[in-house]
Amino acid sequence: MHVQVAPSLLSADILHLDREVESIRGCDWLHIDVMDGDFVPNITYGPGLVRALSRIGIPQDVHLMISQPARHVDAFIDAGAAIVTIHAEADVHLHRTLSHLKKRGVKAGVALNPSTPVSVLEHVWDVLDLVLIMTVNPGFGGQAFIPGGLAKIAQCRHIIDEGGRTDVLLEVDGGVDLNTAPHVVAAGANLLVSGSALFSAPDRGAFIRQLQNL
Ligand code: DX5
Ligand code: ZN
Repeated sequence: MHVQVAPSLLSADILHLDREVESIRGCDWLHIDVMDGDFVPNITYGPGLVRALSRIGIPQDVHLMISQPARHVDAFIDAGAAIVTIHAEADVHLHRTLSHLKKRGVKAGVALNPSTPVSVLEHVWDVLDLVLIMTVNPGFGGQAFIPGGLAKIAQCRHIIDEGGRTDVLLEVDGGVDLNTAPHVVAAGANLLVSGSALFSAPDRGAFIRQLQNL
């Protein structure tokens, strides 16, 4: 199984973003962490960055850690996002928003905080393309991996395989490094986000290949 890798730009040097992106060329997606200071305690960037990065030619995996994401998804799609992931906890009309994402032709993703059970997906499987299991509480890069996430990944993998939904990507985000990644992949993930570990690796290209070959 080819494991896909999405470096989180949260850990990149934003003053030299063009160089930073060149250093991770072999990756599968660029992971863009959008935070609003409401759903999570931190504030990052908006559709303007996605639009600028769309010239680079690496598809963008936009992770919206924002309240009421339905208000903003179109701006990110218009800016060039390829995956748009919203948090289940942030949207009371999950089915409607995911259906809208699919209609707009992007991959529709749902993220689950560490305390959110997989059961919240029960009635939206038909309108999603990606599940993002958070293995840290969202808001900041560089936090420690929460090991309880492994059982959740395995549970999700079981549902995906049982349902014959092998088209659904199972993404894991938070504390993914060379120690935790093998466990994450063994549990069933096929898309890994890595921020602090990847950007602090001496050879980022080699780090990406190591994850892809797990
Ligand atoms: C956390 C973000 C993650 C984070 C990953 O809120 O969603 O994408 O930046 O960074 P590391 O790999 O350092 O945990
Ligand atoms: Zn993220």
